[in-house]
Amino acid sequence: MRIFVTGAGGQIGSDLITTLRERGHEVHGSDLGPRPERLSADVPWHQLDVTDADRVAGVLGEVAPARVFHLAAILSARGEQIPLVTYAVNQTGTYNVLEACRTKGIEQLVFTSTIAVFGPGLPEYAGDDVPLRPTTMYGVTKVAGELLGEYYQRRFGLDFRGVRFPGLISATLPGGGTSDYALFMYVDGVRRGAYEAFCRADSRIPLMYMPDGLRALVELGDAPRAKLRRSIYNIAAFSPTAQQIADSVAGAIEGVRITFAPDPTRQAILDSWPRALDDRNAREDWGWKAAYDLDAMTADLVPRVRELLARTPGALDGHH
Ligand SMILES: NC(=O)c1ccc[n+]([C@@H]2O[C@H](COP(=O)([O-])OP(=O)(O)OC[C@H]3O[C@@H](n4cnc5c(N)ncnc54)[C@H](O)[C@@H]3O)[C@@H](O)[C@H]2O)c1
Repeated sequence: MRIFVTGAGGQIGSDLITTLRERGHEVHGSDLGPRPERLSADVPWHQLDVTDADRVAGVLGEVAPARVFHLAAILSARGEQIPLVTYAVNQTGTYNVLEACRTKGIEQLVFTSTIAVFGPGLPEYAGDDVPLRPTTMYGVTKVAGELLGEYYQRRFGLDFRGVRFPGLISATLPGGGTSDYALFMYVDGVRRGAYEAFCRADSRIPLMYMPDGLRALVELGDAPRAKLRRSIYNIAAFSPTAQQIADSVAGAIEGVRITFAPDPTRQAILDSWPRALDDRNAREDWGWKAAYDLDAMTADLVPRVRELLARTPGALDGHH
């Protein structure tokens, strides 16, 4: 199948392209910049700004994919620094991609939503249909994306589906999300033996190891439509406190010292999210099940981070 990925230069995109190609698909990537070096040079690549409606329609019309994974977005923490750009990319950009799917006759769009669609005051364990009252621009635009996609499905017959990802963790530089403290415990644990996290030790949000997140996207895309009773699904893996992550890291990296110095803005975002997700609909409709818990992730991730930092010492330098 021919597949198109927006925002493919980011944390999820490159891994997703590799996974889809391993399954035999012809995958086209796109992002603001050129093809990232970690992707194979024979991946067809399109420099594409999703806020440019004409170009989105032009490129999607030319490539004519059967399925689009729409990943391009500004994430939660970065979104609070540049809310207007976040609106343009996440809201107008998603509208542009939906419109291009409609006008170019593209069958299926897979959307990457987030736990940031939830807001404060929810039960500790949040289901798919709790009220969505986000307090960040990122959350607001993702709720709008979910609703617009459902409208396009009802009104124009676009096969729209998506997951609400927990914070995703992989040995790749994250794009400025609020769950980044988890990865940096591993990264700075390996290279410095210490990390000061920007959250409280008792902060608890849903997290997921990247291989599970990728599999969720692929499996949801492949699920027979008739089995899906809805378009957007919560998916869950594990929900540790920041202290439990620190303990798991300490079990794998000897002598590591993790301390906590909460940053008010990012802590407020963390406190506005549910502690855990109820993903029973995804389990029932398309057989979703996470494979990695916290310690299984730690066992797999620590050697990967070590190997990456040994090969490219600056690979995981960034805002944290
Ligand atoms: N990483 C997570 O923990 C997480 C959690 C929940 C949901 N998501 C969602 O998954 C998707 C991918 O996230 P990610 O972690 O890979 O983020 P990322 O920031 O690493 O990647 C997003 C990509 O979008 C691109 N982008 C930004 N503005 C653009 C524009 N105007 N036009 C085209 N591309 C543009 C960026 O260049 C970047 O490469 C996003 O939609 C995000 O909201 C991610």
